[in-house]
Amino acid sequence: VILSPQHPLSAGLTSDSRLVRAYRGERSDATPVWFMRQAGRSLPEYRDLRVGTRMLDACLDPAMASEITLQPVRRHRVDAGIFFSDIVVPLKLVGVDVEIQPGRGPVFSRGYADAAGVAELTAIDPARLDEASGPISEAVTLTVAELNTTDHGAGTATPLIGFAGAPFTLAAYLAEGGPSKDHLAARTLMHADPGAWRALMDWTAELTGRFLRTQVLAGASAAQLFDSWAGALSLTDYETHVAPASAAALAHVHDLAYETTDASGAAAPARSVPVVHFGVGTGELLGAMHAIGVDTVGVDYRIPLDVAARRVGEGVPLQGNLDPALLAAPWPVLEAAVREVLRRGEVAPAHVFNLGHGVPPETDPTVLTRVVELVHEASA
Ligand code: CP3
Repeated sequence: VILSPQHPLSAGLTSDSRLVRAYRGERSDATPVWFMRQAGRSLPEYRDLRVGTRMLDACLDPAMASEITLQPVRRHRVDAGIFFSDIVVPLKLVGVDVEIQPGRGPVFSRGYADAAGVAELTAIDPARLDEASGPISEAVTLTVAELNTTDHGAGTATPLIGFAGAPFTLAAYLAEGGPSKDHLAARTLMHADPGAWRALMDWTAELTGRFLRTQVLAGASAAQLFDSWAGALSLTDYETHVAPASAAALAHVHDLAYETTDASGAAAPARSVPVVHFGVGTGELLGAMHAIGVDTVGVDYRIPLDVAARRVGEGVPLQGNLDPALLAAPWPVLEAAVREVLRRGEVAPAHVFNLGHGVPPETDPTVLTRVVELVHEASA
């Protein structure tokens, strides 16, 4: 499927941005940088806007979601916006009873840890999401309209990254009925009732894949699959019980492509939309996470980028991986750490600077702006 000519990748607005070039393995004038959780509680303008609105209501208000997505791009001049939403939004949109509790995370009215629970979920047709995702498409459209006019000195528009939760990370919340430390309910179901587990994974894969596809069709220039809690799994369990579902989710965007031209302006082969895969504590899984068919692997802060590069194999662009704890350290300490991440990232064909996980809510936002400036200067 070829994206519409108005899509920022097809229109040539973001196809040669620092971010998209890095995701296809090319270096450009400077290393691109964005931060997981850049939109959110570290910004006073976010906290002001959110007063009186619940998290999932904010996600489903297109003007608000778009404004929150744009706030960090304006303030920090990062090389990408990440769509303001949540991994449980597609569940909410098809009618699953979920809310996001401040300081806690997604909480369901019940757990779905056995065959009967899974059967209740799978009775919902994931295709229903397409009829319900108007607020998502609308928010992306509004966001991209502004990003298309936002050039922070890179010579291109700023791309939007769309995202979705991977089936395992969603199942970790669903099985438990809320956040947990070890994701025990999901890991038990996987072994206690492999058939029910498989059904749950197939269903979440289709739902979350459709959520991701909606964002790309509406204008996102890249897609990130968050398997945040995959690090709780052994390599064998990941490969057997999880990786096929993550691949199935990504199949919903892998067929999306944009047309390109060569230097003479003649039509060149279509390129697919770049896909990134990230999880926390996934040092042992990096090769397998790459193998499901992604362009770029996101690395958490526990493993240096040059070590990660050896594990994913040659030629794979990497994203990461400053320890978020360093954001609260004295500037000379933070500066040295940023430079170290850049240095280790040089072994990969291309590097997208990011944190090893999300921005802590108490982060001083002026520090993030300074890190963006440093990454651009030091890598130029
Ligand atoms: O800036 C961005 O990164 C974009 C927005 C974004 C949010 N959630 C907004 C959000 C993204 C990409 C996510 C993904 C997400 N949601 C993940 C995967 C990424 C990761 O962090 O590992 C996960 C595991 C979730 C589930 C979830 N939602 C958690 C764990 C929490 C935090 C709970 C808390 O309050 O500490 C949420 C809520 C959430 N999602 C907030 C934001 C800005 C905080 C809501 C608030 O302002 O109260």
